[in-house]
Amino acid sequence: MIELDRLARIRIFADLPRDRLEWLGERVSEFSIAAGDVLLHEGDMPARLTILLDGEVDATQSAGGESDEERYVERYSAPEAFGTPCVMASIPYPVTLTAKSACRLAHLPEAAFRELFVSCGSFSQAVARVMTDWLTALETAALNRSRLAALGKLAAGLAHELNNPASALASGLQYMRKELDALEGSALALGRHAVPEDTLDRLYALVIAKASNERAEAAAPFAQSERESRLADWLGARRVAKPWRVAPVLAAHGIAADDLAPYADELSAGQLDAAIGWIARVLDLRTVMDDAMQGAQRISGIVAAMKSYSFMDQGPQQEVDLHDGIDDTLMVMTHETKRGIELARDYDRSLPRLQAYGSELNQVWTSIIENAIEAMEGRGHIAIRTHRDGDDAVVEIADNGPGIPADAVEHVFEPFYTSKRGPHAHGPSMGLGLHIAYRIVVNRHGGTIGARSDANGTVFRVTLPLAGRHGASHDDAPLAGPVL
Ligand SMILES: Nc1ncnc2c1ncn2[C@@H]1O[C@H](COP(=O)(O)OP(=O)(O)O)[C@@H](O)[C@H]1O
Ligand SMILES: [Mg+2]
Repeated sequence: MIELDRLARIRIFADLPRDRLEWLGERVSEFSIAAGDVLLHEGDMPARLTILLDGEVDATQSAGGESDEERYVERYSAPEAFGTPCVMASIPYPVTLTAKSACRLAHLPEAAFRELFVSCGSFSQAVARVMTDWLTALETAALNRSRLAALGKLAAGLAHELNNPASALASGLQYMRKELDALEGSALALGRHAVPEDTLDRLYALVIAKASNERAEAAAPFAQSERESRLADWLGARRVAKPWRVAPVLAAHGIAADDLAPYADELSAGQLDAAIGWIARVLDLRTVMDDAMQGAQRISGIVAAMKSYSFMDQGPQQEVDLHDGIDDTLMVMTHETKRGIELARDYDRSLPRLQAYGSELNQVWTSIIENAIEAMEGRGHIAIRTHRDGDDAVVEIADNGPGIPADAVEHVFEPFYTSKRGPHAHGPSMGLGLHIAYRIVVNRHGGTIGARSDANGTVFRVTLPLAGRHGASHDDAPLAGPVL
């Protein structure tokens, strides 16, 4: 006879009256397995409840996809019951259970399980609680997966954005390395031709002054090539070497033949050639360096926005400037907006900072903006407006996309609601973006989130109490482990 006290320590049997426990004890059949034996297989349909009376078992799960690998999930120690949700819902086991040590077990046939369920209130309540935990764990896992997918998409976009300036920087540096050697040759030529130092100084000062003025205002391409060829002719006539190479650099910096004429009178042909050759190289290097610097600045700008978007290095809650958060979000999403989205920002800068979970709010803006972009298939107008309404900060994000059908508006915040299934789905659409946004705004910040939509587009409106969250239920749900 099985020890009833041991059964009573298992969660679903904990509240059973004594006579029910005895009834149960008569219906279970005991058996044993050795360490390493598989108790039940992932994917098998359950025909009974499995009760672990002594010993330990490990749960593993196939990694999915092509791979044959098994992923360790959790270890369970006696006493424990396995299969409640599977028996209740007639779904296959989600894991494989393997004995870690020698185990003593018992089976409860499905018919007895169901009989107990319909006839015993305390048992059906306990089962309902297990089912609720199971659903919560499933939902949490789906939420985490969806967050990861969103993060992956963002990271891919950012990698693209970083790629251009990074490769510009790399090729710029490579070019500079080569040109530095050439510059040395030009400097030697200056010495060889004994170019007078003060003439060179004046020429250099002139060129640098012009260069700083000029580069800002790029000349029209036609005028530019005209200036280049005139300068090349002038240089060629004065026997400057490779005028077709030197002229474009000088012309791009706004230098014309007239600027150089006085020096041509002072210097010999050899001296002029050495001086012009040297100056052209210096200017060229300055240009490449400026471009490389821009690339580097762009990279550090993206990294800074990313850092502040994710509130890296900061505690979970902080004084947040809503506008900084929205701007960071837009910066991080550049890859998705830059092709066909026109952005309009209308910020009420008098809004005070508010106590909030900054990176989570950025996730809200990300989800809303991402949906707008997807609804408009990458082309359209997004307007972001902030203002104050009583004790709330209000953020409205409007798009001029096709809108949400009237019968769908009330469902968009529900978990797993999505209209993007099927062949046209873009990326990972699990229908969780707005559900997560809802939880962040309403449960975490005590705010509100709503949508209104018509044929002209959609507006999402988020309100956040300026005084911080008030009275909302706290949603700090820890990650629930798997429930079997
Ligand atoms: N700006 C919008 N325009 C049109 N439909 C929208 C918009 N925002 C959300 N929706 C609708 O709400 C649904 C749920 O959005 P969400 O929770 O982010 O899930 P998902 O984007 O994964 O489908 C979308 O599938 C879409 O039908
Ligand atoms: Mg979405």
